[in-house]
Amino acid sequence: MTQPVPVPHGLPMERDAGPFDPPRRVTQLRDARPVSPMLFPDGHEGWLVTGYEAVRRLMADTRFSSRQDLGVLHVPYETPGMPVSTEPSPQIPGMFIAMDPPDHSRLRRRLTGAFTVKRMRMLEERITDIAERQLDALARLAPPVDLVKEFALPVPSLVICELLGVPYADRENFQVNSAKFLVKDQPLDEKMAAYGALTTYLSELVTRKRATPGDDILSDLARHDDLTIEELTGAAFLLLLAGHETTANMLALGAFALLEHPEQLAELRARPELLPGAVEELMRYLSVVDVLYRYATEDIELGGQTIREGSTVVVSLLAANRDPLRFDHPDTLDIHRNARGHLSFGHGIHQCLGQQLARIEMRAGFDGLLRRFPTLALAIPAEEVKLRTDMNIYGVHELPVTWTESAR
Ligand code: HEM
Repeated sequence: MTQPVPVPHGLPMERDAGPFDPPRRVTQLRDARPVSPMLFPDGHEGWLVTGYEAVRRLMADTRFSSRQDLGVLHVPYETPGMPVSTEPSPQIPGMFIAMDPPDHSRLRRRLTGAFTVKRMRMLEERITDIAERQLDALARLAPPVDLVKEFALPVPSLVICELLGVPYADRENFQVNSAKFLVKDQPLDEKMAAYGALTTYLSELVTRKRATPGDDILSDLARHDDLTIEELTGAAFLLLLAGHETTANMLALGAFALLEHPEQLAELRARPELLPGAVEELMRYLSVVDVLYRYATEDIELGGQTIREGSTVVVSLLAANRDPLRFDHPDTLDIHRNARGHLSFGHGIHQCLGQQLARIEMRAGFDGLLRRFPTLALAIPAEEVKLRTDMNIYGVHELPVTWTESAR
């Protein structure tokens, strides 16, 4: 049997099949086999997992450690200047997305209560109110405007700031810095500077909350004496970053995708009850968090391959969500589809803690946007929309839009 050929130059990123579709090379690899050997830019070999079943199995298997990507901070093989790691990365206190049990469970347990379906339903009215007020502000502007700046970013930012008790007025600081370390090939020293600025800010904030707690999630965490200030800071960092960059990109890229599918957009406007299903389908179709990293802690069989202990494993959620073995006509956006089982919020013990919050934000955001801006249209040709192929969370850098009537 011929040996599979390593994928050269790391994971292909250019969206050569269209702004919403996986790179052609990734689709070809998945269609050939669910697990492919991969050659990283630094020359070491690992694996790329693209098939739906294989991705799901991997994410449910804690022998694949999450101590690999330093919690969205810097991926060793993509960050210039970062040494090659040959063992699990050191843990950053509080950054439980990049931890394994029991450390992961200890921290996550402290937060699950704050993000339950029930708690989130109680917040629904408040979230809808935030979205509507942002749309009031949008309606007062003279088009064309950038939908990212005026709508998609502010809504989840306002929501997560309020929940965590982070002053929204400080957003310049955390938005600029978080954007900096989401850039894929940002030099390590610049990433570390941005990280340093943010952790300094957050550590002062959680220290104040420990002294005088308020009515917010970070204060609740700070009340636990067994958590150190470093752990509180790391958790705050994770929640703040995960809480706004992801949903913001779903809102903006989702609006772009709907504008490019006018029939489905019209149907959604006419039948808002389709929105919850449409949000799941947009999540599947767009998979803004695409690439995750894992590390094999022992020899593991997956998708017909033996993944040796110590290997780096790259997962493509986008490829898995477009697997024809799992979804019919996977590259078609279909708001009537049952998209349940998509992997866009991950799977297993690290499955997204904020998924109910994100769903409420997306439903409220899309509902208000479609209802109040019936003539919403792109203000530039679709080919000119700047895609975030350079960033660790996919989406659009800007989405210039226009409309013809005043939105009420
Ligand atoms: C984890 C996606 C919104 C907080 C994850 C993971 C994915 C994901 C794929 C799993 C990572 C892994 O297994 O390594 C998304 C998407 C979102 C979204 C696509 C928006 C549409 C949010 C929001 C929050 C949040 C609003 C708010 C706090 C987290 C946290 C984790 C996580 C804390 C780590 C969970 C753990 O390690 O146990 N998210 N997320 N996310 N997400 Fe989200």
